[in-house]
Amino acid sequence: MKPEIDVAELKEIISHSPQKPSSLIAVLQDIQRKFHYLPPEAIKETSSALGVPLSQVYSVATFYSAFSLEPRGKHTCRICMGTACHIKGAPMALEQAEDQLGIKAGQTTPDLRFTLEVVNCVGACAMAPVVIIDEKYYGNVRVDKMKRYLDGVRDED
Ligand code: FES
Repeated sequence: MKPEIDVAELKEIISHSPQKPSSLIAVLQDIQRKFHYLPPEAIKETSSALGVPLSQVYSVATFYSAFSLEPRGKHTCRICMGTACHIKGAPMALEQAEDQLGIKAGQTTPDLRFTLEVVNCVGACAMAPVVIIDEKYYGNVRVDKMKRYLDGVRDED
């Protein structure tokens, strides 16, 4: 289910940047940060406010992985499934996260709290298995730690 978007709030966010085509990425970043995705209303409003064709806004929005056209969770949990992490037990950490959040990798919880993703080697193999929650890296993640980290994020909210 897509969350309701407050168009007044959207316009307010867009108004913080100079109203010209070169502000496109900055505006999309601000919207992504606020709503955790780029709602269709945001694409249209950005296009008309900055004078950038809709097709160009879509092409930027789909080119950069930092942007999402689907609602994402407030928090992102990424589990590395590179070879070193896989061998050291990442599949068990993933299973724990899936059970705990009630979703599969690539999905977002219905309450939009978490998005769970599987990623390839993040270059921290010495700490395998590695989990990244929001921007924080956790190493040597076992099932019990995985549970504790996710519970910790919930408690912080
Ligand atoms: S395989 Fe996971 S960090 Fe390299």
